[in-house]
Amino acid sequence: MQRIMAKIGIFDSGYGGLTILEAIRRELPQYDYLYLGDNARAPYGTHSFDVIYRYTLQAVKYLFSQDCALVILACNTASAKALRTIQQKDLPEINHKFEKIVPKGKEIINPKSSKRNVLGVIRPTVEAVPAITKTGHIGILATPATVSSESYVLELEKLADGLSVTQQACPLWVPLIENGEHLSEGADYFVDKYLQQILEKDPRIDTLILGCTHYPLLLPKISQWIRNNGKRFAASDIQVISQGYLEAKSLADYLVRHPEYASQLSQGGSCHYLTTENADRFSQSASLFLSSPVQAEHIDLE
Ligand code: DGL
Repeated sequence: MQRIMAKIGIFDSGYGGLTILEAIRRELPQYDYLYLGDNARAPYGTHSFDVIYRYTLQAVKYLFSQDCALVILACNTASAKALRTIQQKDLPEINHKFEKIVPKGKEIINPKSSKRNVLGVIRPTVEAVPAITKTGHIGILATPATVSSESYVLELEKLADGLSVTQQACPLWVPLIENGEHLSEGADYFVDKYLQQILEKDPRIDTLILGCTHYPLLLPKISQWIRNNGKRFAASDIQVISQGYLEAKSLADYLVRHPEYASQLSQGGSCHYLTTENADRFSQSASLFLSSPVQAEHIDLE
């Protein structure tokens, strides 16, 4: 009898989830990972709910079909728009079907351990906020879809009383990153534009959440902007929160609390990369974002 040993799937519309993957692999290097970037259909952040939900569900099902027991939506847009529906509507059905399609001759360690789950990035990020802010004024930089979902505002309201939350959609940041232009001089204009806008709306913001997993790739420019301009605003000492480390800690904690998932995971320390775009193009760009070169494989999600 062969045991089914599962991987952790990490999904994003494109390259942004690599910032989460790296942090998770630093924290939990022992597990096997499968990264999927839907680069051919990125950006998601300007699409409607229906489209984001349909694309995300296709990706989640694909990763489950590749033996991933857990899928992390390393994408705020997918977490904001699709996570709850997938968890409530699709997962029960998927888990039911999965129990039936276990290949003959393979042993399920115990019935509970055959379950699949999907986790998002918004909750772990929001939980870090109360310990960081001094003024209680929080800024959310995110895609138009994440902003319109109000997910951050609602989660922060649930977590702590009296926080003042201001959102800013940054529709041009993901396209800049997907096209490898995030460190170019041209990117300065759009970094300035959105940071200026959010801090003019609320100059007391002292905590800026990068609510899109692509945005840490702009961090050198964002930090530089704050060094040059932060003093013009009331809070002056502005902390920028990126999600990688928070998501990694949260996953480590989840696996301790859920041994039924941890016990399914294989521990070969590997990572494979899938993209819906051209594999060479992905490999080239991803190698720039990651600390070592990668070789991706092309897949179709329709
Ligand atoms: N990384 C995704 C996020 O965190 C980017 C969304 C997009 O494709 O626009 O929201």
